[in-house]
Amino acid sequence: MTAPSYRFPEGFTWGVAAASAQIEGAARADDKGESIWDRFSRVPGAIQNGDTPEIACDHYHRVAEDAALMQALGVGHYRLSVAWPRVFPGGIGAINPLGLDFYDRLVDALVARGITPWVTLFHWDLPQALEDRGGWPSRGTADAFRPYAEAVVARLADRVKHWFTVNEIPCFVGNGYANGTFAPGRREPAKVVNRAYHHALLAHGHAVAAVRSLGGPGAQVGLVHNHLPPPQIPVTETEADIRAARSEYARTNGPLMGPVFQGHYPEEFLRAAGTDAPDVAPGDMALIAQPTDFLGLNVYAGDFVRAGADGRPERLPFPRQFPKGDLWWINVTPQSLYWAVRHAAEVFGVRAFHITENGAAFDDEVQPDGEVLDLDRREYLRNHLIAVHRAIAEGFDVRGYFLWSLLDNFEWAEGYGKRFGIVRVDFATQRRTPKLSARWYSRVMQANRIV
Ligand code: GCO
Repeated sequence: MTAPSYRFPEGFTWGVAAASAQIEGAARADDKGESIWDRFSRVPGAIQNGDTPEIACDHYHRVAEDAALMQALGVGHYRLSVAWPRVFPGGIGAINPLGLDFYDRLVDALVARGITPWVTLFHWDLPQALEDRGGWPSRGTADAFRPYAEAVVARLADRVKHWFTVNEIPCFVGNGYANGTFAPGRREPAKVVNRAYHHALLAHGHAVAAVRSLGGPGAQVGLVHNHLPPPQIPVTETEADIRAARSEYARTNGPLMGPVFQGHYPEEFLRAAGTDAPDVAPGDMALIAQPTDFLGLNVYAGDFVRAGADGRPERLPFPRQFPKGDLWWINVTPQSLYWAVRHAAEVFGVRAFHITENGAAFDDEVQPDGEVLDLDRREYLRNHLIAVHRAIAEGFDVRGYFLWSLLDNFEWAEGYGKRFGIVRVDFATQRRTPKLSARWYSRVMQANRIV
């Protein structure tokens, strides 16, 4: 028997991902407005170590260097995000030409190096001015998103053909407005939180409409979703456990995936929410449910689920001595990636996918000569790619994989202490050093197979 070659389909999209607030820095450059993360990072105790996104990887001033680095690693596709407060410092109203100029330069630098840009319109850096008027729980934020999305798409459409609308609604709404661990740090009752979810879905709809009307020929667009709780892995691949995992997936993802892919909130969710259910205006569901070209999935970890004695889903605790990354929620479960795809296809009929984020924080040790031998990250990535390969081999249309992340960066409330990069960043000098995982991934991308 020969070992499987783990070859990927011809033309598979291999890339890396990043987000504006996590790498750009230059928090006040060129008339940029304040973001909720700029503001939140000044709240004492909000962010580990008192870190702020103010300088981050200084990517704003190092676009040429970072594009060259990607080219040297053989990265053909780069998922970036646009900072809304650079483009509209006040969230709405006057556009800041310098902000759009930056993304113009960035896209040009990528294209010149043969790197295809994939642009996310919202990756959490809401203009503080909009938060001051209510933030995502206010419908005005979704309304303001429309001209913003249109301005960005119109400006970049000649060079950008791949768009993502909104990144991880469960994460920025849940953490930002329900438990308060992320910017803007609010802890609101269910009614307010459900409003925020609904308005984020409307923003997704506005972004799809902007790409359809202004994106030009060949433009493609999709949502980037994550799962809270993480994707359900059946403990054994028996019918009963698979059914239990799938029903738990449907229950926990339905409130977001239902509107986008079926045009309505699940009845079970509405019943449970009662008077806390979101207020849906005429036309909302049609906007939210416009057809998209693919779904982006961010997957880092999964939950093990089995059918309990009565057949009902039962979530198992993660074994205490099993590998974890350098964050409490990174339970190393590569099959989660396969199941995330399969559940979305089977429950919501999703037909095409990109893995828009996958990767892990590990406590990297730097060798005396500066090398980082991150075999933990390499093994994590390798095993997750095997799960992607399985999904493809079984016929699921997974078209791309974007590793999170190119650089160590500002890990939100964790600050700079948690490192996800395949390239080490020395934040004192801004020096970039590819880790062992970067050299490995470089070979994977070139060979189009898991090496
Ligand atoms: C996400 C976040 C990333 C995080 C990464 C690791 O989309 O979850 O977009 O910004 O840095 O997931 O937590």
